[in-house]
Amino acid sequence: MADITFKVFRFDPGTDSAPRFDTFVAPLFKKGLTVLEALFYIQEKLDGSLAFRASCREGVCGSCAMHINGKYRLACETQVSELGSDGVIVQPLGHLKVLRDLVVDMEPFFAKYKYIKPYLMPGSPSPEREWPQTVGEHAKVMPSIDCILCACCHASCTVTATDPDYLGPAALLWADRFARDSRDNSLDERLRLVDQLHGIWRCHTIFSCQEVCPKDLDPTGCIADLKRKAMKRKLFGH
Ligand code: FES
Repeated sequence: MADITFKVFRFDPGTDSAPRFDTFVAPLFKKGLTVLEALFYIQEKLDGSLAFRASCREGVCGSCAMHINGKYRLACETQVSELGSDGVIVQPLGHLKVLRDLVVDMEPFFAKYKYIKPYLMPGSPSPEREWPQTVGEHAKVMPSIDCILCACCHASCTVTATDPDYLGPAALLWADRFARDSRDNSLDERLRLVDQLHGIWRCHTIFSCQEVCPKDLDPTGCIADLKRKAMKRKLFGH
């Protein structure tokens, strides 16, 4: 059974004066071992004080996002064998305050998500049974609804790095998702929320968000769609 070396970011702001990396050697104890399973091994067998987040262990909840060997990814969907033989370096998500080790404060990220009003605003009373939608209308909000809010895009975004108030790719992807929805009737308000100093125009179309998205979504394209809608509104009023 081969051994793998893990360098793991460690920091407890309550007691440590500076962050450090701890090195652990863990066995490749099963075929397809994921980074998340290795972190659980380290926590259970080598250092019970290691802190990280995880829940579903199958790429659904988004809580295990972290920086692994140079890229933001989900630890539960990343097999150690994919990462080469030079070992694994694990760090927390960027642009978010470290609470401890690999656990970051997600509050600012979710505050931006809440700000864009991530729910339908149809502007009329709900129908007795449901809002019908054609297959074509539904296709317009796909695949953005697959976003699991893991924040890989947020952490990889160079604009977020320099402007902490920038709404960021995830919140803007959701703003676009609702702006596209045939059941929503609040485009003016949605555009007002994102057409501002820290909104859509701050995106420099660098595509880092698209590159790291574990669900292969296109936040850059969604932001471009919002820019088009906002410009059309300004020029033609609709
Ligand atoms: S633990 Fe849920 S996405 Fe990885």
